[in-house]
Amino acid sequence: MRQLIAGNWKMNGKLADGAALAASLDAQAGDLACDLLICPPATLLATLAAQLSGSKIHVGAQDCHAKPSGAHTGDISAPMLRDAGAAWVILGHSERRADHGESDAVVLAKVLAAVAAGLAPIVCVGETEAQRLAGEQNTVVALQLTGSLPPDFAGVVAYEPVWAIGTGRTPSEADVAEMHAHIRATLVSHLGATGGGLRILYGGSVKPSNAAALMSLPEVGGALVGGASLVAADFLAIAHASDAVATGVRAG
Ligand code: 13P
Repeated sequence: MRQLIAGNWKMNGKLADGAALAASLDAQAGDLACDLLICPPATLLATLAAQLSGSKIHVGAQDCHAKPSGAHTGDISAPMLRDAGAAWVILGHSERRADHGESDAVVLAKVLAAVAAGLAPIVCVGETEAQRLAGEQNTVVALQLTGSLPPDFAGVVAYEPVWAIGTGRTPSEADVAEMHAHIRATLVSHLGATGGGLRILYGGSVKPSNAAALMSLPEVGGALVGGASLVAADFLAIAHASDAVATGVRAG
């Protein structure tokens, strides 16, 4: 399965920085066996999508509203993101679930809106540290998946343990492999055969030094990268680690 290396820029980047980062990625990406995606802030989408048209780097958004238009001050709809040049959208990120109180039902409505607008959704799930310490991670993640994904879901899932985001900590390789197997089994029982073929990304403190190990684990279909996606050399090193896994050359 072709891996997806996705960069979530979060609330970072003004026009000049974003354009320079995108140009640097585009100039150095070369031939990759993985798919490369950047998700800049909405303010940069139209500019970067135009800048990268014809490039192999895909462009996506970080959220969308569930409605196509209307009286929702400050929100941006899926058709508007598509119109700005986005092809993908991250949904249900833990920062949105925490900062904006997004429930699984809200995420589900957004997934339906994204798909209707022609955006490919990346739906994030993951447990908090307290939930892992209580041994509840499998239950929590299964509930998020069944609550957030429609029965005909054909997008990407990202497992991002909340406690690993931006902390420099990652689960052990055994814990990542166990969770990805659990997510695969849940997808198959919720979605049927389609669930067997969807990519499951790992996210949370992915960096060049741990990417090869994480990307080579069974059922890991790529990475959702935060901080390291803001540095072209680091993001590309992660993509090359994924490539090394794809071609059977274990780097680092
Ligand atoms: P970090 O890579 O900075 O830990 O962020 C992960 C993340 O939240 C990506 O969506």
